[in-house]
Amino acid sequence: MPSKQDARTLLAARVEYYRDLGIFDFYRRGGQQHVCADRLEAAEYVPPDMGATREHAPSIECDTIDATSATLVNPAIHTVPTALTVVEEHEIPARKPFPAAPAIADVVQPADRAQALANIRQDIGDCTRCALSAGRNKIVFGDGVPNARLLFVGEGPGADEDAQGVPFVGRAGQLLNNMINAMGLSRQQVYIANIVKCRPPGNRVPEPDEAHTCTQFLFRQIDVVRPEVIVALGATAATYLLGAKSPLNGLRGHVHSFRGARLIVTYHPAYLLRDPRQKGEAWKDLQIAMAELGLTPPTRSSAAESGG
Ligand code: URA
Repeated sequence: MPSKQDARTLLAARVEYYRDLGIFDFYRRGGQQHVCADRLEAAEYVPPDMGATREHAPSIECDTIDATSATLVNPAIHTVPTALTVVEEHEIPARKPFPAAPAIADVVQPADRAQALANIRQDIGDCTRCALSAGRNKIVFGDGVPNARLLFVGEGPGADEDAQGVPFVGRAGQLLNNMINAMGLSRQQVYIANIVKCRPPGNRVPEPDEAHTCTQFLFRQIDVVRPEVIVALGATAATYLLGAKSPLNGLRGHVHSFRGARLIVTYHPAYLLRDPRQKGEAWKDLQIAMAELGLTPPTRSSAAESGG
């Protein structure tokens, strides 16, 4: 039987894993939540620290997690990873209808986009519209060129971003920079923003009301920048952009549509840091984005020529 500390570590890893599959509500609520075996068709992946492969998974009946005390009621299940279904899934409350993407006549001209973004920042002000304002240091508005063809959306600021007021500047940001460079682009050519602009306490997933309160500004930013392609980084971004909660792997590999842009879903860089084996899968997603933009990946020689 694992020690209590090991059980906590494993539980934390599982919670992260569920999040990456788009299952991210069960551990926030009090009482016991039941997570049963039978659905993981969409998920190809079993975390390395779970000590078994997916083929071993199906025979588990049900494991129970006491979400309040964050200990495993049945730690034995950790010897075998399960295919998971959240028995009681809840829907994201419907957001207020948001106006459609701007008509051509309302498109902000490229020369005016920097000012239009500054106006949105001004409208946000010293925001106290949701509970996240209580714990933040800096509002993380967004970063990049106002005329970017490619726009990335993450989940929410972490500690580094909260301190600097700039999205994706921590370890996940380093990896995102590498991903952007691998596409033959630099960070100065894209725009980056998040579902929420203030750091959730302990880096928890934003609550639906927080996300819905904040995305009105993100959507305005997107309408100003008018990217051709948006890349949703992880389940939270995909959920709140597409307006429906769905396992990430079901969303990957498709070209979705969002506010006049083509939207591609991939893993969050923080997830890729936890499981670098999935970088190849993320690269496949980025290649879809590149194809949509008419880009080809840099060759060794072109990278060498440009000093890369
Ligand atoms: N993770 C995010 O989702 N956004 C950031 O800005 C940083 C880390």
